Amino acid sequence: MRHFLNLSDAGGDAVAAMLADAIDRKAARATWPKGKVDADAPLAGHVLAMVFEKNSTRTRASFDIAIRQLGGTSMIMDAGVTQLGRGETIADTARVLSRYADAIMIRTDDHAKVEELAEYASVPVINGLTDLSHPCQIVADLLTIVESGKALPGLELAWLGDGNNVLSSLIEAAGLFGFHVRAGVPQGYDPDADFVEAARAKGSRIDITRDAREAVAGADLVVTDTWVSMGQDHAHNKIAAMAPYQVDERLMTGAKSDAIFLHCLPAHRGDEVVDAVMDGPQSRVWDEAENRVHAQKSILLWAFGKL
Ligand code: CP
Ligand code: NVA
Repeated sequence: MRHFLNLSDAGGDAVAAMLADAIDRKAARATWPKGKVDADAPLAGHVLAMVFEKNSTRTRASFDIAIRQLGGTSMIMDAGVTQLGRGETIADTARVLSRYADAIMIRTDDHAKVEELAEYASVPVINGLTDLSHPCQIVADLLTIVESGKALPGLELAWLGDGNNVLSSLIEAAGLFGFHVRAGVPQGYDPDADFVEAARAKGSRIDITRDAREAVAGADLVVTDTWVSMGQDHAHNKIAAMAPYQVDERLMTGAKSDAIFLHCLPAHRGDEVVDAVMDGPQSRVWDEAENRVHAQKSILLWAFGKL
């Protein structure tokens, strides 16, 4: 069973195959309307169930479009209006949804819930974000980086702000593709130690600094995310600690002149990033958001054993 709970479940070769497939499929339908099914309709007849225990715009819409473009259909459930929201167990939910759908995507809080769903499901399970990681986002990010003409091995990635779920998956990708991460994060908000150790063990340089300018120095890529993730308290002391890590035009000048800026979105303009960077010439955030569709298609094809 091909579950996609983290990037390592697929591994570097499979993620590379996803990127190649996404590039081909994206090019093949460049001028098509978004609802048209890919010529080979590789997932015709397949149903993707999606369960959301947290808000979503991109993951929800892009998975929905992705499965349709592959010829399949989707079933979207907000946990609050399902029996899961009234205490039906994850295991029983997994057993039942496996009878209705050919794959399940879930967005939730505790990563252990996704693992439990995968344990009891008899169809592939995809992690659409947990408090721990966000692997689908990073496949889209890698696609955006490759499209910008940058090779992944040896790439210098600067992260600014909170050491969160998105950073965990970026660090995991660094280990799989041989790039390096310099994270400018305040004391107390370091990234998950297991992801850091695993990437270092694969030979990637994962540096943590308290100095934002040091983090971006010479970087090929500058990445940030919200200072307060879903489910976290909007604590004033956290916001104050994050303030020196705001990505503004001045900070961007410390990176390479051809560096690009990424943000998984939603952005909190004026907090982690200013308008001039979000809307500036180095920003690739709208391509990154679009690439969620193309990346998700290749993740689905991999999960169904078609890649
Ligand atoms: N980047 C991302 O996952 O966006 P959503 O929360 O809108 O799905
Ligand atoms: N770190 C953010 C990502 C949102 C897509 C969160 O978990 O809320």
